[in-house]
Amino acid sequence: MKETQLSIKITEYANLLELNTTDSELVKQAMAISENAYAPYSNFKVGAAVLLKNGEIITGTNQENAAYPSGLCAERTALFYANSKFPDVPVLAIAIVAKSNNVFTEQPIGPCGSCRQVIFETETRFKSPIKIIMVGTKKISVIENAKSLLPISFSENDLK
Ligand code: THU
Repeated sequence: MKETQLSIKITEYANLLELNTTDSELVKQAMAISENAYAPYSNFKVGAAVLLKNGEIITGTNQENAAYPSGLCAERTALFYANSKFPDVPVLAIAIVAKSNNVFTEQPIGPCGSCRQVIFETETRFKSPIKIIMVGTKKISVIENAKSLLPISFSENDLK
């Protein structure tokens, strides 16, 4: 028998002022776009901002639907659009914010499992780590790559 213990590094910041300018700008854009979320069923508005290696920032929000499973999270809305518009440009970072009943959450929210899978594949595809910046009003948690959030992952290699 063999046991393996996994650990991930999470860097926590008290507020936006502690972030570098690039990350802080990304968070601000995620906050601004969150208002555009279409979330009439959950009243949980999520904003995501994706930084590309060419300097572009692509934003997205969650889009719900009366047929609930038809909706999509903010992270995938932003990433799929980024990968559609700039299919050859690596993604460097993604900032995620959420508002519950129009108030930004105190604690950061982590991307859901499906979003982790998509962020992870984007990271693998471009062979370039994606920094994940999860934002709450009480703290901001940063993880250096998607693999850390999805350690036992399924990827294209498993299809071979
Ligand atoms: N949601 C996101 O957009 N991103 C996440 O990481 C978690 C959940 C959305 C999906 C749904 O519209 C609402 O938040 C409540 O789950």
